Amino acid sequence: MLRRPIRSFALRQGRFSPAQRRAHEELLPRFGIAFAEAPLDLAAVFGRPAPKILEIGSGMGETTAAIAQAAPDRDFLAVEVHAPGVGGLLKQIDERALTNLRVIQHDAAEVVAQMIAPGALAGIHVFFPDPWPKKRHHKRRLLQPPFVHELALRLAPGGYLHAATDWVDYAAAILAALTADPLLENAARDYAPRPDYRPLTKFERRGLRLGHGVWDIVFRRR
Ligand SMILES: C[S@@+](CC[C@H](N)C(=O)[O-])C[C@H]1O[C@@H](n2cnc3c(N)ncnc32)[C@H](O)[C@@H]1O
Repeated sequence: MLRRPIRSFALRQGRFSPAQRRAHEELLPRFGIAFAEAPLDLAAVFGRPAPKILEIGSGMGETTAAIAQAAPDRDFLAVEVHAPGVGGLLKQIDERALTNLRVIQHDAAEVVAQMIAPGALAGIHVFFPDPWPKKRHHKRRLLQPPFVHELALRLAPGGYLHAATDWVDYAAAILAALTADPLLENAARDYAPRPDYRPLTKFERRGLRLGHGVWDIVFRRR
């Protein structure tokens, strides 16, 4: 019997702002990539062989766009299910005239499985994945050993997987999952200092002021 897969997101299509809706309608055909059950030729998508970074769960897109703008020598593929967030990201791509950032609006578990070839990536970013704080929901957390292994397989040797979370028990679970994966090794001793390329978000700055922690976890493929 086919069982519905456990999803790491709740499908709240949410409300579009008028600007997000317009961006979604007008810009998705320009900067979006349709989900397909076939490996993506990333060099062809971006028209060059530059290092490719996958970002899972780009949210409203500000951080993703800022990172891509600051690294014009790398190409970024964002994956996000939330349509208003995709609209927000598309607007940023247009306003900042970014040629090194594209988006797929689809479940990242399927995108990774179907569209990303083994060894294709120089890096993977997963910033503030939904924490699913209730114990009975932990099974919905994105970063668990089987998916971590799928991600590790998509990295080229030396490529990195960088996660950040403000939930202490999720941070510990991510650290454990990455440590247990035979393809990965920790780039730090345990938690990593925040790499300069990840800007502090407004939300994070506020949290830090209130004494809340944020944990960065950075591993490399052996
Ligand atoms: C808590 S938000 C964080 C957004 C952003 N990274 C940030 O730091 O502000 C998590 C995001 O991941 C997205 N997400 C969760 N599971 C996903 C999946 N399987 N595929 C794509 N996006 C997903 C959610 O829609 C949401 O926008």
